[in-house]
Amino acid sequence: MIVALDGPAASGKGTIGRRLAAEFGIGYLDTGAMFRVVGRAALDAGADLDDAEAVLKVAKEIDLDDQSDPRLHDAETGQAASRVAEQRVVRGLLLEAQRAFANRPGGAVLDGRDIGTVVFPDADLKFFITASTAARAARRAAQLREMGATVDEAELAKELELRDNRDRQRAAAPLRRADDAILLDTTHMSIDAAFDTARRHMARRLEELGCA
Ligand code: C5P
Repeated sequence: MIVALDGPAASGKGTIGRRLAAEFGIGYLDTGAMFRVVGRAALDAGADLDDAEAVLKVAKEIDLDDQSDPRLHDAETGQAASRVAEQRVVRGLLLEAQRAFANRPGGAVLDGRDIGTVVFPDADLKFFITASTAARAARRAAQLREMGATVDEAELAKELELRDNRDRQRAAAPLRRADDAILLDTTHMSIDAAFDTARRHMARRLEELGCA
């Protein structure tokens, strides 16, 4: 079973995706983290983020699974991730790794921007998870504070919008809801309630597929 979770930054898809995967005992892949690893490495290497070949060279030399650098969560890395994500050659490299990951017994839950539209257009179940910018900024701020960071919520909201606009407007695999994705707006919903809705959809789909 392949479950696609797409949506703008900090909409709750990571938390919901992780919990779905744990609940149903299948794999989980945070594809945004892969773009962050590439963005961070490109910054550290001093590569021009608009130079697709230079970024691709960096991406091929690193371990995409090594997500231990605490700087991966910061805004500078988020912006770099969204800039390298504009490059088709970089997306192509990551897409291969994403499809390979999902090719495992039981399948996987993948969260990102283009999972239901490009990576797995035939996914068994698709969600598009969204929320207002204010709600997303408040949630991301709480997460960062938990990690011990000092945050300016208004700055954070601007950063999220800048990234979402770039992700929506790019030519390569833009952020958009697949026609057959279930829309979950979590603005006025707790993440627990959103997870519960997603869990029920997934249980029903597993039953339809005869896997329950
Ligand atoms: O999910 P996260 O906010 O960590 O993603 C960082 C950036 O990576 C996004 O803003 C987006 O530009 C890019 N991304 C993407 N396609 C994905 C996942 C993330 O373009 N499937």
